[in-house]
This record gives sequence, structure tokens and C-alpha cells, in this order.
Amino acid sequence: MATAHSTRRHPFLCFCIFLGSMLSLSHGRLTPNFKIRAVNLGGWLVTEGWIKPSLFHDIPNKDFLDGTKLQFKSVTSGKYLCAETGGGSIIVANRTDAHSWETFKLWRINETSYQLRVCKKQFVGVDSGGNGIDMVATVADPGRSETFEIVRNSDDRVRIKAPNGFFLQVKTENLVTADSKGDGSWGNDDQSVFNITITGKLHGEFQLTNGYGPVNAPQVMTEHWNTFIVEDDFKFISCNGINAVRIPVGWWIASDPTPPQPYVGGSLQALDNAFIWAQYASNPRLYAVELINEPRSPNATLESLNKYYRDGYKAVRKYSSTAYVIMSNRINESPETYDPKEFFSLASGLDGSVIDIHYYNLYFNNSDTMSVQQNINFIYNNRSRELNQLTTSNGPLTFIGEWVAEWGKAARANATKEDYIEFANAQLDVYGKASFGWAYWTLKKDVTNPKKDQNHWSLEWKINNHYINL
Ligand SMILES: *[C@@H]1O[C@H](CO)[C@@H](O)[C@H](O)[C@H]1NC(C)=O
Ligand SMILES: *[C@@H]1O[C@H](CO)[C@@H](O)[C@H](O)[C@H]1NC(C)=O
Ligand SMILES: *[C@@H]1O[C@H](CO)[C@@H](O)[C@H](O)[C@H]1NC(C)=O
Ligand SMILES: *[C@@H]1O[C@H](CO)[C@@H](O)[C@H](O)[C@H]1NC(C)=O
Ligand SMILES: *[C@@H]1O[C@H](CO)[C@@H](O)[C@H](O)[C@H]1NC(C)=O
Ligand SMILES: *[C@@H]1O[C@H](CO)[C@@H](O)[C@H](O)[C@H]1NC(C)=O
Ligand SMILES: *[C@@H]1O[C@H](CO)[C@@H](O)[C@H](O)[C@H]1NC(C)=O
Repeated sequence: MATAHSTRRHPFLCFCIFLGSMLSLSHGRLTPNFKIRAVNLGGWLVTEGWIKPSLFHDIPNKDFLDGTKLQFKSVTSGKYLCAETGGGSIIVANRTDAHSWETFKLWRINETSYQLRVCKKQFVGVDSGGNGIDMVATVADPGRSETFEIVRNSDDRVRIKAPNGFFLQVKTENLVTADSKGDGSWGNDDQSVFNITITGKLHGEFQLTNGYGPVNAPQVMTEHWNTFIVEDDFKFISCNGINAVRIPVGWWIASDPTPPQPYVGGSLQALDNAFIWAQYASNPRLYAVELINEPRSPNATLESLNKYYRDGYKAVRKYSSTAYVIMSNRINESPETYDPKEFFSLASGLDGSVIDIHYYNLYFNNSDTMSVQQNINFIYNNRSRELNQLTTSNGPLTFIGEWVAEWGKAARANATKEDYIEFANAQLDVYGKASFGWAYWTLKKDVTNPKKDQNHWSLEWKINNHYINL
């Protein structure tokens, strides 16, 4: 479940590699002779901050990671900085409320230097054609003239230093200029001081590696790869009834050991280790490759995904005639347009193809108000009915590639341990009928996190605490 995405300038195309065992060819068609009961190794080769928050702790200026959304309120006027008309025009400071035009997205160059992207995707800069101090947001391709330093005083007070060496100040509500020495008191009478509000944060691999920078990131990542998942985890998995792992990998792994910056090389070596650790399992192999598009980039239409999946299928077939090729349904579709069969016509023509349906039960409409019993009924009725319709003898295989025994707010508030066990068993029963199998999200997460109720996302914790028995 990639909740904290690592993308910035690229669509998030990611692959999942499966290690499993045993597979047979019958009647020329690939048929599995066992079902996948897998666990996802989330947060390992693709960083997700919520899985291991401590990874981010030592980043300098860690509140200002790439992609952070900031609003700046002038302490003298009490009004917000705003890219007039959302971009392509001047910067003003005349808004009493902050919405999209008053929100600036950070592009982090390093721990002190940032570019500020406005709503319509231009960058804040000093007007080059004017007097050299007026602030505008007109440039689409940022360079030195769009690179600022953010100097922070206290938790919520900053000054913004322009590339001309001077600080931004709010002279009047309609006039924001880069001509303050920025040597005032930091008090409420200082026109160069802004109170900041952070309205959005990202904690993906881009943020992590960009945040540590090219000198420190390789060491941090190597340490993480070598310690987060180790050989003992594979022993634990296989002793507890799991027969495969689903390993999300970033698109940048394709150019390992020299991925584009800020990503760092070495994740391919870590993946190799996983293959070695799986050796106690009989006949370990690359069992399947999954093509994922998450989150959907705005341009990822059904048509473009059909093409991507078809091309991806051909690419996998070049190397393996037996690996399954898994195609993931689009996620977060509204109920009006949700169609779990959207890739069926494509997949039906491709031998060894599998459709991945993610069955999280805590994000859809009404899930927050559903009781424990309603949740369990929902699995036995709705999920079961849908899965039945999707699992046909001549269509693609079906796979629940991500699920978790966790529910929405109302049930969470009231659930007992027995309720959790029953909910997990309901899902194991129903998802066990998927023709390819299922994969729990996820093996591990940092359970020392104060958000204790996130522990249910860790299959390791669930098994150790007897919430799930496979
Ligand atoms: C940060 O980037 C700016 C602009 O490229 C550069 O001038 C500065 O030296 C860099 N600082 C560090 C600490 O790397
Ligand atoms: C803010 O200032 C701009 C430029 O003078 C003006 O066009 C706009 O109407 C003002 N908006 C508000 C809410 O005062
Ligand atoms: C600054 O913003 C924070 C919220 O980010 C708010 O709690 C605080 O009261 C503000 N301070 C001033 C002086 O506006
Ligand atoms: C997405 O579509 C828009 C509008 O059609 C286009 O301008 C943009 O270049 C496309 N982006 C990518 C990454 O293809
Ligand atoms: C989802 O929730 C919204 C808001 O509560 C409601 O308007 C809509 O009808 C719901 N849709 C379905 C399919 O239940
Ligand atoms: C949760 O428990 C409280 C107290 O027993 C009860 O009033 C409430 O209806 C329950 N909520 C749900 C969603 O089951
Ligand atoms: C489950 O299916 C029933 C019967 O079709 C339907 O009324 C109900 O809305 C569904 N529940 C959810 C949460 O979609």
C-alpha cells in the first residue's frame, strides 16, 4: 500500500517480484498447482515512511522534504502569500484564507535550498525583466533564479532568502519584494517574517534519498536494506505457512547500480539476497512479475495502461515463458466507475496472466461507520460475491495482492482480539478462493510507533501475538 509515494518528476511505475516455488505447465497453459499465500515485503526496496518512520529521523531540516506543501502568513499583515491567479503572474500577500493558490510545494535541492512550485506549476522567482526585486511565479523550468533558502527561526517562523541575496518582505498586501536585509527581530513587526503552516508531507524513497543527500543517502539505504529484511525473516515466513513473498521494487531498480539521482544503487543486490534466502524453500524461483501503476498518474488512462501492460507482458515473456504476469487493477476508483473486470479483455488473451485486486476494507465509502459484524458480513457477502464473479475457468487468474486484517474507525474502536481473529479468518476463507492466491500487506512495520493501532498492518506482529494463524 504505497501511501507515501516516492515520485516527483516521474510516474510511479513499479514492479513486484514474487518468489515462490513449484509450477507446472499443463495443456500448454500455465496453471498453478498451488495457491500463493504470500506476504508483501513492503517498505523494504521501496521506502514508505509510515512503515519505518525512524529512517527519516536524521535528515537535516526534515520538515522540509521534497513535495512538502507550505503556506506562508505574513506576521505583519496576517495575510497569506499567494500566487495571483494560481500562477503565471505576481506574488501577492492579500489573502485572509489559504487554499490552493496560497499553497507552495517544495522542491528540495538540499538542506538549505528550495524551489517553490505554485498551483499552476510555475516556480516562484524574482522578476527578471523588472526591477530585480519584484516577486513573480512565471517560470516553468526552475533554475538558479528560482532557488531560495529558507531560514527557520522557531517552529513556525521563517525568512525566505532570494537568489539576489536579499529576503522577501511584504511591503503592502499587493507588493512582495526581495529587498530586505532580513536582520530584524523576528517579531510581529518584521515584514520579512512569515509564519508557516505545513499542509502536506510525503515520505517516500525520493524524499528519503534526496533528504539525506548524495553523501549520506547510500549509507542510510544500505543499512536499511541489510537490516529491515534479513534471512531470519524468510525462516519466520516459511515456518508460519507463507509460501511466497511479493516484493515491490521501484522503477529505478532497472538502472541499478547507477539509478537516476537522488536514488542510490544497491537495491538490486538486496533483491539478489532475497533469492538466496529463499533457497531453503524447494525450487525457489521467480514465480511472477507484477506490473503496477500506483498512484495512477493523471495521464494513465485505461487505454494507456492496456498498452503498458501488453508491453510489460511481452517484456517478461522475452525472459521467461513460465513466470506469471500480474496486472493490477486501478485503485481508488469511485464506486461509479469501479470495474474489477477492466483488464479482463486484455488479460484473457495473454497466457499466464493474473489480475490483482486489492481488497482493503477500510478505505471505501461507509467503512468508517461499519461495525465489526458488518465488516465480517461484508467479506462473506460482498467480497465473496465479487470474487466469485471474477474467478472464471477461461478468464485470467485472480489474486488479492494486498489486504490487511484491519478495519474502519467504528469497528477499530470497539473490536476485541477475538473480533480481529474472526475478521482475519473471514478474509482467509474468502480470499483463499482466489484462483492465484493472496498476499497480506505487509510483513513488518515499526510497531514502536506511537500509533499502536497500526500494528495490525504487520503480519509478523499479528502472528507473534496470535491474531492470525495460517
Ligand atoms: C545547496 O544548494 C545550493 C544551490 O545549488 C548551493 O549553493 C549550496 O552550496 C548547497 N548547499 C549544500 C549544503 O550542499
Ligand atoms: C490581491 O491583489 C491582486 C493584485 O493587486 C488583486 O488582483 C486581487 O484582487 C487581490 N485579491 C484580494 C482578495 O484582495
Ligand atoms: C503560526 O501558525 C501556527 C500554525 O502553523 C499557529 O498555531 C500559530 O498561532 C501561528 N502564529 C502566529 C503568530 O500567527
Ligand atoms: C499528460 O497529459 C498532458 C495533457 O494532455 C500533457 O501536457 C503532459 O505532457 C502529459 N504528461 C506525461 C508525463 O505524459
Ligand atoms: C459515498 O459517500 C458519499 C458521501 O457520504 C455519498 O454521497 C455517496 O452516495 C456514497 N456512495 C455510495 C456508492 O455509497
Ligand atoms: C461500539 O460500542 C459502543 C458501546 O458498546 C456502542 O454503543 C456502539 O454502537 C458500538 N459501535 C459500533 C459501530 O459497533
Ligand atoms: C454489500 O452488498 C449489499 C447487497 O448487495 C449492499 O446493499 C451493500 O451496500 C454492500 N455493502 C457495501 C459496503 O458496499
